[in-house]
Amino acid sequence: MQYTDKVLEHFRNPRNMGQIENADGCGEVGNPVCGDMMRITIKIDDETETIEDIKFTTFGCGAAIASSSVLTELIKGKTITEALQVTNMDVVEELGGLPAIKVHCSVLAENAIVAALYDYYQKHPQKEIPLELEKRAKALETAAADD
Ligand code: FES
Repeated sequence: MQYTDKVLEHFRNPRNMGQIENADGCGEVGNPVCGDMMRITIKIDDETETIEDIKFTTFGCGAAIASSSVLTELIKGKTITEALQVTNMDVVEELGGLPAIKVHCSVLAENAIVAALYDYYQKHPQKEIPLELEKRAKALETAAADD
C-alpha cells in the first residue's frame, strides 16, 4: 500500500493530539468493520461560535491518525458553519490522497467532528442547532444502532 509523504508525516508527527479538559463538545465514533475508534474534543467560543481548540485521540490505523491530524488543522479557528463544510474528501485531498481501502479512515474523522459538534449543541439546548448538523448526527446514530 502506497501512502503519500504527507500521510506519513502526519502519522509520525500528528498535530493536535490529546484531549481538552472540560471540553465544550466531545465526539466518539468507531468503525465496526476495522474496530478503529476516534475521539475528538472541542473548545468553542459561545459568542462567535468559533472552534478555538480541537484535539483528537485515535485507537486506530496510521491513516486514521493522519486523517484526524489534518482534519483538526483544517477545522481549528473556523466557525461551526464553516467546519460543517469540511468533508472527508477535503481531508483526503489535503493528504495528497489515500489508498481506496483507507478512505473510510477519513470518514471516521469527519464523523467524529460531527459527533463533537452535536454534543456541543446537546449541552447548549438554548442554541439553535444547524439543520445540516442535526441531519448528519442523526444519520450517525442510526448507523451505530444498526451495527
Ligand atoms: Fe479503520 Fe483506518 S483501518 S480507521
